[in-house]
Amino acid sequence: MAPTLPSWWLLFLLLLGVGATAAARGSKKLTPPVSTAYEWPERFHAVVVSINLTSHDRGGGRLQLIELYYDWPHGRDLNIVRDQLSGDPPLYNVEWVNGTSYLFDTAASSCRTFQFPVGLLPPDWIATANYLGRDTVDGFECHVWSNFLFSRYYADVATGHPVRWIFNGNTRHVLEFEAGVVLQDSSKWQAPPYCFASSTPPPI
Ligand SMILES: *[C@@H]1O[C@H](CO)[C@@H](O)[C@H](O)[C@H]1NC(C)=O
Ligand SMILES: *[C@@H]1O[C@H](CO)[C@@H](O)[C@H](O)[C@H]1NC(C)=O
Repeated sequence: MAPTLPSWWLLFLLLLGVGATAAARGSKKLTPPVSTAYEWPERFHAVVVSINLTSHDRGGGRLQLIELYYDWPHGRDLNIVRDQLSGDPPLYNVEWVNGTSYLFDTAASSCRTFQFPVGLLPPDWIATANYLGRDTVDGFECHVWSNFLFSRYYADVATGHPVRWIFNGNTRHVLEFEAGVVLQDSSKWQAPPYCFASSTPPPI
């Protein structure tokens, strides 16, 4: 009598084989670039278009234009956020290295405070991220990483500048990136008094 393998056994062998080839294919390409060009400068200014594909506002895909100032020496970053065709003044989001974040609306005099377990990413965060190989996005050949914050982060192979990142359901496309730019205007960084109004407990 010829021995026959039960079908579940065959499935098991197939899965093993598929797993092994995927691992072999993956490990071949995954050598991260040996360069500090992909680290962030200590200060930068970026103009970013953000599309939230998980939001169903306006038939899906909420569009925002964000001006981002990253200022590691002062332990902070600022996002100035404009909604598509809203006509409203922008929202400000100041994030501090200790994890406190103030999201305020100067027109409505409203403010929300968030406390994140992890504060600002340091300029060399990429050294501890997972390297995922190369991909072409927005027409740029990029190195790709992921970490606890970014499900994907794409940096231009040629310049090291970010091209795109995906975070919390949002895809952000970088239109402009300038190293070394400092935003001096302290009124943009300082959360307004109504952020500190006595008894309002911070949401989340
Ligand atoms: C994207 O939209 C979803 C659903 O409205 C929301 O939960 C999420 O916080 C948004 N992401 C960002 C980064 O605003
Ligand atoms: C974090 O730093 C900011 C800015 O200095 C401050 O307003 C906030 O109270 C600090 N948060 C905590 C939890 O200490």
